[in-house]
Amino acid sequence: MKVTVYPPITNASGPHSVTYEELERIARSAAGAIVTKSMTHCPRQGNPEPRLRSHLDNEIGSLNSMGLPNLGYQEYAKFIPKLKDFGKPVIASIASAPCAHKLPPVEQYREIALAIEKAGADALELNLSCPNLEDVPISMDPQSVRAVLHAVTRAVKIPIGVKLSPYNNVPKLFEEIARTLLDFEIAYVATINSEPLTLDIDLQTRTKVVRPNEGFGGLGGPAVLPIALAEVHRFYKFFQKHKARIAVWGVGGITKPEDAIKHFLAGASVVQIGTLFLWEGPHVFEKLWTGIQRWLTENGFSSIEEIIGQVREA
Ligand SMILES: Cc1cc2nc3c(=O)[nH]c(=O)nc-3n(C[C@H](O)[C@H](O)[C@H](O)COP(=O)(O)O)c2cc1C
Repeated sequence: MKVTVYPPITNASGPHSVTYEELERIARSAAGAIVTKSMTHCPRQGNPEPRLRSHLDNEIGSLNSMGLPNLGYQEYAKFIPKLKDFGKPVIASIASAPCAHKLPPVEQYREIALAIEKAGADALELNLSCPNLEDVPISMDPQSVRAVLHAVTRAVKIPIGVKLSPYNNVPKLFEEIARTLLDFEIAYVATINSEPLTLDIDLQTRTKVVRPNEGFGGLGGPAVLPIALAEVHRFYKFFQKHKARIAVWGVGGITKPEDAIKHFLAGASVVQIGTLFLWEGPHVFEKLWTGIQRWLTENGFSSIEEIIGQVREA
């Protein structure tokens, strides 16, 4: 099952996507879909502050350890019908997290998925890769990925996307996760979530830039572009080789139209924007889309489809 997104550019889950007002601003922008903040079973305050350094030195990116602050899935279920009135796909990002009721993660995903489908969401994006919770992300364990996909793909009929961590330095794990995905009906893989376990230091105060988890947080923005491109390309090639109809959505490092073009050439069919949207707000979708179209025209292409996966060997 496909999720049709046009223009093929959306927000990435997280930045400015927590409240109804924020989601409505995305709905009114040029973004091709609305992606919610990852919602959990219980509402969450998230990690203690400071938990976000939006601008690292030299604008190389953002570093966050938010810990999934969100309103809880029951609130988002109320928003979804209103958001659908804007006529673009509403994609609900869902995640598991420690919660007072101690429901196992697989059950959390299943229950949220059922409620959100009922509320009318057009697709689910299973965030399996939040780097800022106490537990190791599900995306790092093929058995857990299998268990969540087994439960959710049986529970709901709407298309399912899967948001994954970067696996760059663990090729064996990449292979195992990619093979696991082949066993399920998945619409798309969104890669990458924030690059985990990164650190930065404020030289004026000589402190770490975020407080939770001893200062280690997730990196986004220009610094992660080559990491994201590699992940997009590896998944694209893997799915081609195995004739799997799973789309790859590119997330990571896009701050210019040219960055998005690189994602498309690497194999992405949709791109998502995190840090740049955090920095500049909803006008970024129109700005990027105009630049992407200009690049296509100047280089003799009439559509994005003509360049998806068309990177050449050096
Ligand atoms: C403040 C902040 C909050 C985020 N929250 C989420 C989230 O709730 N769910 C999720 O899947 N990714 C979350 N992310 C990760 C982004 O969706 C994206 O994968 C990452 O930032 C890389 O994209 P970028 O380089 O465009 O920022 C968050 C990122 C930032 C900066």
